[in-house]
Amino acid sequence: MITTTQVGIIGAGPAGLVLAHMLAARGIESLVLEVRDRSYVEHRVRAGVLEHPSVELLRDLGLAGRLDREGLAHRGIELAFEGRRHRLDFLELTGRSITVYGQQEIVKDLIAIRLAAGDPIVFEAAEVEPCAFDTPHPTIRYRHDGQDHELRCDLIAGCDGFHGVSRPAMPGWTSFEREYPFAWLGILADAAPTIDELIYTNHERGFALYSMRSPKITRMYLQVAADEAIENWSDDRIWSEFDIRLPTGDGFSFNSGPILEKAITPMRSFVASPMRSGRLVLAGDAAHIVPPTGAKGMNLAIADVFVLAGIIDRAYRTGRWEGLDRYTDTCLGRVWRAQHFSYWMTSMLHRLSDDPFQYQLQLSELALVTGNVSAARSLAENYVGLPFAPVP
Ligand code: APR
Ligand code: PHB
Repeated sequence: MITTTQVGIIGAGPAGLVLAHMLAARGIESLVLEVRDRSYVEHRVRAGVLEHPSVELLRDLGLAGRLDREGLAHRGIELAFEGRRHRLDFLELTGRSITVYGQQEIVKDLIAIRLAAGDPIVFEAAEVEPCAFDTPHPTIRYRHDGQDHELRCDLIAGCDGFHGVSRPAMPGWTSFEREYPFAWLGILADAAPTIDELIYTNHERGFALYSMRSPKITRMYLQVAADEAIENWSDDRIWSEFDIRLPTGDGFSFNSGPILEKAITPMRSFVASPMRSGRLVLAGDAAHIVPPTGAKGMNLAIADVFVLAGIIDRAYRTGRWEGLDRYTDTCLGRVWRAQHFSYWMTSMLHRLSDDPFQYQLQLSELALVTGNVSAARSLAENYVGLPFAPVP
């Protein structure tokens, strides 16, 4: 079956869905193709921190109703090392704050609002393939409900994550990569958080992060070896490790409770360049991955599509698509800043080796960012989110 739209979007994650909404707000039609079913994407537990610019964008688009009601506004974070906690007050340092709201909640909201407006998302689209994107008339082939489909469009947005089909289909890109010799074991627990800010802990046994999803649900992470198997981590072992790494001498303690979900995520830095070939454009995890320590993944996806939607809008208003030539450079400036920030936070907070010299350097850096206002402000500005790049 042949159908036509203006922009064909592959992937219904934050990148694909925010792009679809930004285009709809400008009267541009799109079709979103998602390989998984609706329930799967709505329940996939992922990141949870929204930068200030991401929240503002969702508000401007009228998509932040539930986010504003249920999201947790955080005005700072805590860094813990040598058994003590140190608070960074982002609001005081930058005038801005962050919001904790699970990625799957955003995905749920964006899907519901789009479908209610009568705009299409095809779930369980199989064998999705971007085609003819070296011409002004690209197509996406896919199978759905046992039928072959061809979607004709003006542009294909590859928003299909790190393991998607868009990047491999693109000729001539190179990548910049770093793998870390450790991973994060993340849990979601039915346990009320005991404080209302995140705690990033540098402990001699490894990094730990205390986060949350709601007044009743805690989200926590432990640094584990890169090749660690989740089977080796019983719930008891997980709680005992948090018991060692998290408590601080100033009396911080946390609640444990039934573990609702646990998984190990590898840590990787990755940037593909260019992010575009002809009429195929990558956005979000399809083009870049950051280690989660800087809480940047979902925000970078949103920043990419902010630029992309602006370029597409201009193309339809002027009939000229040259703006696409500036897409990669415009996005990568902000992406590399976030790459550096994520790498730096990761290096400062994890156990990197047995080398005591390295550990002393980490302590010195942590003392600087918690004791010196300029250093604290620099961390805070990067964490709450630098402004989106202007549309070129
Ligand atoms: N065809 C259609 N859809 C696909 C295909 C395919 N071949 N391959 C993957 N997808 C879908 C995935 O099922 C997923 O729903 O593309 C979507 C990509 O979404 P994300 O992985 O969430 O990526 P993105 O939208 O760029 O958002 C970045 O995701 O990994 C986190 O930390 C990261 O929070 C950040 C966010
Ligand atoms: C989370 O709550 O999932 C979370 C918070 C901060 C991070 C990473 C993940 O840096």
